[in-house]
Amino acid sequence: MCGIIGYSGHRPAVPLIMDGLHRLEYRGYDSAGVAFGHYDKIKVVKAEGKLAALEEKLKSNEALLATTGIGHTRWATHGLPVERNAHPHLSQEGDIAIIHNGIIENFLEIKEQLESQGHAFVSDTDTEVLVHLIGEERKTASSLREAFARALRRARGAYAVAIISQEEPGVIYAARMSAPLLLGVGVGECFVASDIPAFLPYTREVVFLEDGEIVRVCDGQWQVWALENMAPVEKEVNHIPWDMQAAAKGGHKHFMLKEIMEQPRVVTDCLSGRIVNTDTGKRVCFPEMDALPVPERLHIVACGTSYNAGLWARQLLENIGGVPVDLDIASEFRYRDPMLRSGEMVLVISQSGETADTLAALRLAREKGCKVIGLCNVVGSSIAREAHVVLYTQAGPEISVASTKAMCSQMTLLTLLALYYGQRRNPDFSDGGLLDGLLDLPQLLEANLPSMNEKAQTLAKKFADSQDFFYLGRGQYQALAFEGALKLKEISYIHAEGYAFGEMKHGPIALISPDFPTFAFALDDDLYPKVKSNIQEVLARSGRIVALVQEQGRELGALGVEELWMLPKAHPVISSFLTLPALQLFSYQVADYLGKDVDQPRNLAKSVTVE
Ligand code: G6P
Repeated sequence: MCGIIGYSGHRPAVPLIMDGLHRLEYRGYDSAGVAFGHYDKIKVVKAEGKLAALEEKLKSNEALLATTGIGHTRWATHGLPVERNAHPHLSQEGDIAIIHNGIIENFLEIKEQLESQGHAFVSDTDTEVLVHLIGEERKTASSLREAFARALRRARGAYAVAIISQEEPGVIYAARMSAPLLLGVGVGECFVASDIPAFLPYTREVVFLEDGEIVRVCDGQWQVWALENMAPVEKEVNHIPWDMQAAAKGGHKHFMLKEIMEQPRVVTDCLSGRIVNTDTGKRVCFPEMDALPVPERLHIVACGTSYNAGLWARQLLENIGGVPVDLDIASEFRYRDPMLRSGEMVLVISQSGETADTLAALRLAREKGCKVIGLCNVVGSSIAREAHVVLYTQAGPEISVASTKAMCSQMTLLTLLALYYGQRRNPDFSDGGLLDGLLDLPQLLEANLPSMNEKAQTLAKKFADSQDFFYLGRGQYQALAFEGALKLKEISYIHAEGYAFGEMKHGPIALISPDFPTFAFALDDDLYPKVKSNIQEVLARSGRIVALVQEQGRELGALGVEELWMLPKAHPVISSFLTLPALQLFSYQVADYLGKDVDQPRNLAKSVTVE
């Protein structure tokens, strides 16, 4: 999704903005640009493609003189990803420059009106319309701030915007509505940005802007007003404890590999403080949840990988937690007028905490009077702030666009949640060794990840020329089959389908051939005999199979399974946590072998903040 950064201070703004844009690259983008004060004019430089193209153009500009500027990485929503549509955009007179993340829904209506007043547009974007509107309002408003506010009041939709102008050199105005925007406060300097890493090397003091707020920054000074009536708003400055080390690749070739390998630590961090020893044994403690009753039904709503984590947890929440679960993709939930009865709750899952559809689902649930639990990674994100209760996954920043460690942390937390509900519903609850299994998991992962990576590399070389792949699993492995297929297509662009194994014979089996291999989940659990039969059905149609197996699955080699990928024996629920890095590493190694842009796959964004 689009990345935004603005700087006002005492240092050369453009190099600092470029540095910030590099740190926002993980959000995904297709073009980029900057605007800065150049003598008494506003200068805009932009380029299609990666930031290197913009850097090249900046070399021939006198950008170093500017100490105020704004920069943007664009992920196209309106208009093609070409330079003309890249941000910043200028007002009709060229005296105001804007950057924007989001969508102005009524831009066509405003554009028609402005055209009738003589405005001409050079791009296809909704953003350019907004900056023209600000320019138009400026003709009658008493100040730029008022013109900005008036224009925003007319805009419907989502935005995080920042502007600079010829009229007020050194000043940035910014505002947000349903899109993330933060203020970084340094000494004699301020930043506005869509995400904390953009300015983290310069300051850790952060102000979270809310929907409907406008901010003015100038050097180290800042002030916030409510857009509605321009009443001043008191804001708290928060200190962010992370460091940039956490966001560096840690010696790995890609962030994705680093993040897969971090999963032992992720599980440890996720468990820390959440398991206590009592006289009757170990128990899960979620003090933040104690004030809420156990829900009569839990509606899980999420997108992408977070949805797969929810699907994986459904059976646990029902069988261990005793809570019936409904599951929805957020973009469907928000438009289907869901039935939410009293006593039911909504659980939204989101790594970023900013996914537009998930946030809309949360707001809908709140409107319907439902309590919402947010399961989030990013502290202070919109979902984290708007949910009634937030459970943080504590996975640390996830930079690679394809989500990996976040799912591991979500599965860990959801397992704890199932156990927690089980405990609350039944004082004699027994976890069947699952808590001990979770506590041993970091060590188990640590011991096995290096050899799993080697195995993935070998398999990748063998299967990377496939055009299609099936991922098939039953029970808890259905969700992991979905996730395996998602990971492979996301980063290697190989067509992959995730299916419940039992559903194969209702259509998909027609596709099986030696050119359409299968990645099978054949782990030791109650469903293993069923999976074995399904595998035989695939083999009977000349399908090639890579199977993730434990003890029981050893026999599958003799039946004709081409590759057995042995995983250690573990508690049945814990085995899922071993298959997750296996499928992640396989996708990673295939994509790397094929030379793909692993951390920033084409067309994808880390944080999808528009619907
Ligand atoms: C994007 C990302 C996915 C992610 C999904 C949901 O599509 O590319 O990796 O799973 O959004 O994101 P969230 O931050 O809500 O978990």
